[in-house]
Amino acid sequence: MKKTWWKESVIYQIYPRSFADSNGDGIGDINGITSKLDYLRNLGIDVIWLSPVYKSPNDDNGYDISDYEAIMDEFGTMEDFDRMLAEAHARGIKIVMDLVVNHTSDEHKWFLESRSSKDNPKRDYYFWREGKDGREPNNWGSWFSGSAWKYDETTDMYYLHLFSPKQPDLNWDNPAVRKDVFDMMTRWCEKGIDGFRMDVISLISKPAGLPDAPLMNELYGDCGCTANGPHVHEYLQEMNRKVLSKYDIMTVGETACVTLEEAKKYANSEGTELNMVFQFEHVGLDGDEQFKWSTRKMPLVPLKENLTKWQNGLDGVAWNSLFFCNHDQPRVVNRLGDPSDEYREVSAKCIATCLHMMQGTPYVYQGEELGMVNYPFRTVKDFNDLESINAYYELTEKMGWDPKEIFPKIANKSRDNARTPMQWDDSPNAGFTTGKPWLAVNPNYTKINAAEQVIREDSVFNYYKKLIELRHTYDIIVYGHYELQMAEDPELYIYTRELDGHKLLVVCNFSDHEREFMPDEEFREGKVLIRNLNNNNILDGILEPYEAYVIYVE
Ligand code: GLC
Ligand code: CA
Repeated sequence: MKKTWWKESVIYQIYPRSFADSNGDGIGDINGITSKLDYLRNLGIDVIWLSPVYKSPNDDNGYDISDYEAIMDEFGTMEDFDRMLAEAHARGIKIVMDLVVNHTSDEHKWFLESRSSKDNPKRDYYFWREGKDGREPNNWGSWFSGSAWKYDETTDMYYLHLFSPKQPDLNWDNPAVRKDVFDMMTRWCEKGIDGFRMDVISLISKPAGLPDAPLMNELYGDCGCTANGPHVHEYLQEMNRKVLSKYDIMTVGETACVTLEEAKKYANSEGTELNMVFQFEHVGLDGDEQFKWSTRKMPLVPLKENLTKWQNGLDGVAWNSLFFCNHDQPRVVNRLGDPSDEYREVSAKCIATCLHMMQGTPYVYQGEELGMVNYPFRTVKDFNDLESINAYYELTEKMGWDPKEIFPKIANKSRDNARTPMQWDDSPNAGFTTGKPWLAVNPNYTKINAAEQVIREDSVFNYYKKLIELRHTYDIIVYGHYELQMAEDPELYIYTRELDGHKLLVVCNFSDHEREFMPDEEFREGKVLIRNLNNNNILDGILEPYEAYVIYVE
């Protein structure tokens, strides 16, 4: 297997709005990030993935971009950005930018022109269609509820928006769109950034003729039908030839609805498209039948089966990214661990052990390294995120769900769980801002915060730090071949890794009670690389609740 720096890196995702506010307006910003680079260096991460910082009217918190080459007013200036990049580089930290090019903002100049008349030169930058029988051009539903089409009076036609109406989809079949996007990417690369995380990049090639899709609920067709479309690989190969291959950068595609077979193309080892992709099957396992909203726990056997399929399926032919958390996912301790005082830290460490010992590039989402947990939402008024708000009203008002039944499900899975401000210390607003935070701080910040954890040896923070250090030390953690043990056990996640005759045993008890487990003979003399408890002996054959450890044999 070819060795590269991005396979050996650990990535830290920053959601700038919620990370650190430097000027007291309640909104995180670029200077705030710069002020925390030493914290990240201490944690030991190699790369920052920066969620969008471009100019945006913030309908979807920066994922609706009105100028790809300017910084969002609230976040600072291009000089602030340049300083952050230089300061990060000075600390050996790379910065990967979020690239949101499936769509722009409806306030982007391309769209303003496109919408202005049917014969505008930019008309074909987006998807404009006539209505059908007084209705939308097809049955596609938006990922954010409602139709994926919006009627526009100016020219009496509809435009396509797979996300919010303020996020019109770019028409990638138009070579001029591709050229403009590639040129913009080139300018960022020339500036010295270190790569791109590509937002919903699997959706850029729409099926020819935009046909109706199979229904996803009583109201709309499933616009997941636009994933892995007819020309997506061709367009990414073109992007690779014209931009990516010219720089030593890393790329990760956010590939909604990707399958293993598709991932082998997107992230192929020949390097003709992207370095790796995010797959979402495993974070869908705790969803309800019709949608993601639910209060279920992640079931362990299907989780093992799924992650194992990806570990083995991509081994040697493509490359995995490893994640449970990002700005779209609720906090993993709630999904897979136990947020109670008794088990929060030990379960957070167990989850981290399980993920960080796998093959692939691990991603840590801000606050994950502290074991941050979901927010106690009480009413729909507590939400900021348009996905949660729209879903609540569509499900209750249009589809007749009982608000009492649906609210806890949405609260449990809401993206806002990940977006509450970073908990830096126990001062007011968790040290995130001196003003009023744009989204409420989790009231548990007096207990869960970075200042306390950085100095406490057995904290979740210091455990992540150790996991990252181990990955930087042992090749087997990066490159070793993975093999699942005890596939049917509903509480234990146990696997081995193997490289050049060396072996690693990873043992995680995902239950709140003791389990009997004795490592095989060959591991009993091995070296314990990490362990989330220190009150008993591994060889007593008893796993404590949420116990996790890793043994290495040379
Ligand atoms: C991706 C982003 C998400 C955003 C959506 C539309 O899924 O991660 O936050 O809302 O794309 O850009
Ligand atoms: Ca600010």
